[in-house]
Formats: sequence, C-alpha cells, structure tokens
Amino acid sequence: MTSGGDCPGLNAVIRGAVLNGIKRYGHEFVGFLDGWRGVVEGDYIDLPRATVRGISKQGGTILGTSRTNPYDGEQGGPENIQATLDRLGVDAVIAIGGEGTLAGAKELTDAGLPIVGVPKTIDNDLDATDYTFGFDTAVQIATEAIDRLRTTGESHHRCMVAEVMGRHVGWIALHAGMAAGAHAILIPEHPLSMEQITQWVREAHERGRAPLVVVAEGFVPEGSFEPYADRGRDASGRPRLGGVGERLAPLIEEATGLETRATVLGYIQRGGVPTAYDRVLATRLGMAAVDSATDKAWGTMVALRGTDICRVPFVDALDNLKRVPQHRYDEAAVLFG
Ligand code: F6P
Repeated sequence: MTSGGDCPGLNAVIRGAVLNGIKRYGHEFVGFLDGWRGVVEGDYIDLPRATVRGISKQGGTILGTSRTNPYDGEQGGPENIQATLDRLGVDAVIAIGGEGTLAGAKELTDAGLPIVGVPKTIDNDLDATDYTFGFDTAVQIATEAIDRLRTTGESHHRCMVAEVMGRHVGWIALHAGMAAGAHAILIPEHPLSMEQITQWVREAHERGRAPLVVVAEGFVPEGSFEPYADRGRDASGRPRLGGVGERLAPLIEEATGLETRATVLGYIQRGGVPTAYDRVLATRLGMAAVDSATDKAWGTMVALRGTDICRVPFVDALDNLKRVPQHRYDEAAVLFG
C-alpha cells in the first residue's frame, strides 16, 4: 500500500516488488487502496503481473493514497487489521510511505503485525536513508521551472522569488537553487534576517543581474512574520504551508525598490514522470522490500546507503529528520549575492 503524499516513483516500487516476488519467490500480490484506509477496510485490487506492466514511468500511484491513520475508526487498530489480513489470506504488508506512515507501521509491527516498509518523500528528510525516490524528480522539475522564471525576470529586470516544497528541511531548495544559480536560498534549518536576504538581492542587482531567490515553504525570516499564520491546518492537524514567497516579495520590493514577483511551484513538483534515477532507486527498493518480507524481517524498512540497499529498523526513520547540515548551507552560501 502507498500512503501519505504522492511521490514520483511509487509505481516503480510496486512494479519492482511484484516482479521480484513473482519471479523469484512465486508470491501473489494484492494492492490495498488509498493507504491505510484500504488495509483497515480490506479494500484491495489484485496485482497480477499484467497490472504492473509499464508503470514505472507513470507518476502518482495506481493504488491511490491517503493520510488515514490505521488506528482510527471501528475497523482500525492491530487486532482488527490482523483479522482483515487473515480473512484475505495476506501474509505480509509492504507499507510505502513517509514518516507518518512508518510511525503507524512501527506501532502495528510492535503489536505483532507482519509489516515491512519502503521510505518515501520528495522532501528527502528521512535520516535513515541517503536519498528517497521522488527527490531527484522534484529537484529536476523545480530547476526547470526556476530556469524559466529566470528568463522572464531578466527580461523585466525584476527580482524573482521561487517557492519550492520542503516542510521541515530545505533539500529541494538547496539542490534546485544551486542548480539554477540562485542568488539566495532560504531554508527552514537556517533562519535569516530580512536584512541579509535583501543584501544578497541588492548585490545581485548591482552586478546587473535579475536577482533570483529560492525559498523552501517552511522557511520563516527571523523576526518578520508569524509562520503560516493565516492558512489553518489540514485534516491531520499539520499547518498548511505555501505562501512564504508571496509574503517575502513585498518585503524585498520595499527594502530594495526592485519590482519583485513570487511563484509557488507547489504540487507540480510531485506530479508526472519520475526521472531515471528515481525509477531505478524505487525499483530496487520495491524488490528489496519483497526480500525483507520473504525473510520475515518485520519492523524494518529498506534504505539506500551509498549505492547499496540495506535494511534498517523503522525506529531509525522516526523522529530523526535529515536536515541540511550547516557545512552544506555554508558551501552554497559562497555563491549567494
Ligand atoms: O512531504 C511531502 C510534501 O510534498 C511536503 O513538501 C508538503 O509540505 C506536503 O507534502 C504537502 O502535503 P499535502 O499533500 O497534504 O498538501
């Protein structure tokens, strides 16, 4: 099952798991629909080999996704879920998801359920794995979009602010910003004052450039405005992000006198065709997850370490955000202004 925000590469994981499971072990597969909802309600589709034909290049997930909590509702919780798995003849669940999904999977595994995991997030913020699939695609999409903002910014002699995803960490901003040659990259891990931001904008402008600022959605400038004050919370209680770019633009314009426009890239970064890198990583993770399930390595998720796929306990992926380290930010900052 696929759970949490969608992510390019989910279908490649499913295909890798199904093909490896059928070809090497003779397993049969079903796919639970819409994350934990499908597991809890026993809502599934059969996944014979023909259903995964050619899907690694498809964005989204053929199984649908949701942020349903497996403990919610009358059918939720470990005993009910185990009863549903027994009724359907399911011996193992492969949970493909981010921190929230893996937290649910850990609790259920602790209660005795047969679950293995595959880490997923475009934000690349899970510390137990070097990279998550979907991140490379998001960076590629963001870089292409920022390159386009640059030509319109240069034509109009404007400052352009590009807002990318990144709730707690700034990996997408750091990589896309560096690739696109941003004059400032603003990330949640590294608070900055408006004075510093506008200084970089001025320096770029004074050299005859159209300043380009890349900001992660979770960034908050020091002492300037409350984070995400007016957007409320989503159904899972998380603050709705998106909009910091729009809030920064008038402040930059006011401080520098330079016409400034903001663009929020939003869900475009999560949609569509995964890059070749993400397809390969996702396929390998899906294949390895089936090996884990076959070995009954419950409570572990597959992870990328260097170029190898290994197994780590769920707990390593929880409460353990992979933040952009200071030295990576300092390295990028040499290029600012
Ligand atoms: O975690 C991935 C992510 O795309 C974040 O970058 C973003 O803050 C969040 O999901 C958006 O979640 P939703 O799809 O619930 O709006």
